[in-house]
Amino acid sequence: MHNDPAFNSRFLRALRREPVDCTPVWLMRQAGRYLPEYRATRAAAGSFLGMAKYPEIACEVTLQPLRRFPLDAAILFSDILTVPDAMGLGLYFVDGEGPKFERPVRSAADIDKLAVPDMGSSLRYVMDAVSLIRRELDAAIPLIGFSGSPWTLACYMVEGGGSKDFGRIKALALNEPALMHKLLNVVTDAVIAYLSAQHAAGAQALQVFDTWGGTLSPAMYRAFSLPYLTRIARELQRGDTPLILFGKGNAAHLEALAASGAQGVGMDWTVTLEDAARRIGGSVALQGNLDPAMLYGSPDAVRAQVRAVLDSYRDGNGGSREGHVFNLGHGMSPDMNPEHVAALVDEVHCYSAR
Ligand code: CP3
Repeated sequence: MHNDPAFNSRFLRALRREPVDCTPVWLMRQAGRYLPEYRATRAAAGSFLGMAKYPEIACEVTLQPLRRFPLDAAILFSDILTVPDAMGLGLYFVDGEGPKFERPVRSAADIDKLAVPDMGSSLRYVMDAVSLIRRELDAAIPLIGFSGSPWTLACYMVEGGGSKDFGRIKALALNEPALMHKLLNVVTDAVIAYLSAQHAAGAQALQVFDTWGGTLSPAMYRAFSLPYLTRIARELQRGDTPLILFGKGNAAHLEALAASGAQGVGMDWTVTLEDAARRIGGSVALQGNLDPAMLYGSPDAVRAQVRAVLDSYRDGNGGSREGHVFNLGHGMSPDMNPEHVAALVDEVHCYSAR
């Protein structure tokens, strides 16, 4: 680990809550349709899966935002739904409607059939992309691998795609809790195998996206999302790779997430970093949490919002910036302006260096 040139990068140092020369920054969905070079690659490849399943293309797209902006980490270009796809559900995308599964999980028999996919065959393309990116990326810049959380993956697996009210999965959780836990357990086993394989292939940090945990009541979250996030953190802790647990709408659960054994907790913009740092800053690194819609403001407005987030963290962390990874509170959108992203990254580095 210590002979890894990225070991002393700002990003990995911040996750260890060590001193940094300025606050590190990366952005969720930093590779995507807001970049003209991404749109060109996508047009040539034909589709999202036509990019994600080919390591050379996934590598090219991963590196695109790093050529434009001095970001402090790269994130593997892939998707959380590769895991259920490899479990046999048949992932496909309908333009304008997002991801869908040909064979959603609807019965006890469907759940019985699920098994942890083989990382060396059906998910080989992901590990090949990780190794290739690790070879092509500046050795001093860390690469983040990722997975969906068990609850969030189960949402797509049971609903068969996106959902407004999550009626099917919430009915399953209520009416058949033992079956729900059986599903979450096999998905958790798959997530742990998937993250471990990405680490083995060269990823130096890992993030779990619990995008839909915030749709649960606190009691349902403690039953159906938190225990599985905690198991992932505990089982991955045996390795030396930092893990970040990101959740939309997770503000009520920060203490529990900090106690999970993960090194970082990522949050959206509905909590101030000042409050979050007071509550859990002593035990984990915090990642976040600019509202991505702030990128629709002018570059000067973006800079002011960046300073407010940096100040908020410092105010809650005894005046120190240590232990903060700057990010958005959720992913970027296709209609955002790359020049505003440039202002964001520049302001994080310049303002936090003072
Ligand atoms: O952050 C990055 O740059 C890494 C790449 C990444 C993608 N998806 C690429 C992608 C990551 C980390 C994800 C995770 C993901 N995928 C999540 C969790 C994070 C979040 O946003 O909450 C979720 C819920 C998904 C499921 C998913 N995949 C959806 C809902 C969509 C459709 C989105 C859309 O804008 O149409 C995808 C497709 C997808 N994954 C795209 C990208 C860049 C859009 C692809 C395209 O059409 O070009």
